[in-house]
Amino acid sequence: MAQAEQQVSEFSGAQLDCLLDAPTIRNRIQEMGKEITRDYAGKQPHLICVLKGAVVFLSELMRNIDLPISVDFIAVSSYGNATKTSGEVKIVKDLDSSLAGRDVLVVEDILDTGLTLTYLINNFKSRGVESVRIAALLNKPSRRLIEVDLAYKGFDIPDAFVVGFGLDAAQRFRNLPYVAVLIDGA
Ligand code: IMP
Ligand code: MG
Repeated sequence: MAQAEQQVSEFSGAQLDCLLDAPTIRNRIQEMGKEITRDYAGKQPHLICVLKGAVVFLSELMRNIDLPISVDFIAVSSYGNATKTSGEVKIVKDLDSSLAGRDVLVVEDILDTGLTLTYLINNFKSRGVESVRIAALLNKPSRRLIEVDLAYKGFDIPDAFVVGFGLDAAQRFRNLPYVAVLIDGA
């Protein structure tokens, strides 16, 4: 009889301190989906996912919205892999379809300084949206540089660099199934 396979986890060497476990995140996103379903009754919300960090949140959130939604993707860059936002925002991949007359719901992983979302909201408004709101899984209120109206918020978190559930550190940890504070970049 062969010995049981000793699978070493991709994450076992990293210094990760769990902040939000998977069931907690799932339950909160279920509630957010219900709020959105109620608020947009009779409408067809157009979900815009901000790549790449928001893809995991989007996939969970959209399955909890009981409405005829549509989805599009945009990628922005704040230049480089630094763990601090530079403030400069550039559209790396633009939307596929027009926003004219749409009820847009921007789906973001984390609201930090607010610079990225402020840029995006102004950009989307200039494309003739009917309405635009934000859904963000995580919020770091202590880091805000610009006031942003967050219609749907998953969790307030402290000022720490977090990874997992889509969020990365230099592209790593997006596949971690929970949200953790990264203590060490290893
Ligand atoms: P903001 O423009 O400062 O609000 O930056 C938002 C973006 O910065 C997010 O979409 C993330 O890509 C990134 N970000 C901010 N804080 C964190 C973090 O703690 N972990 C991973 N990415 C973060
Ligand atoms: Mg992001």
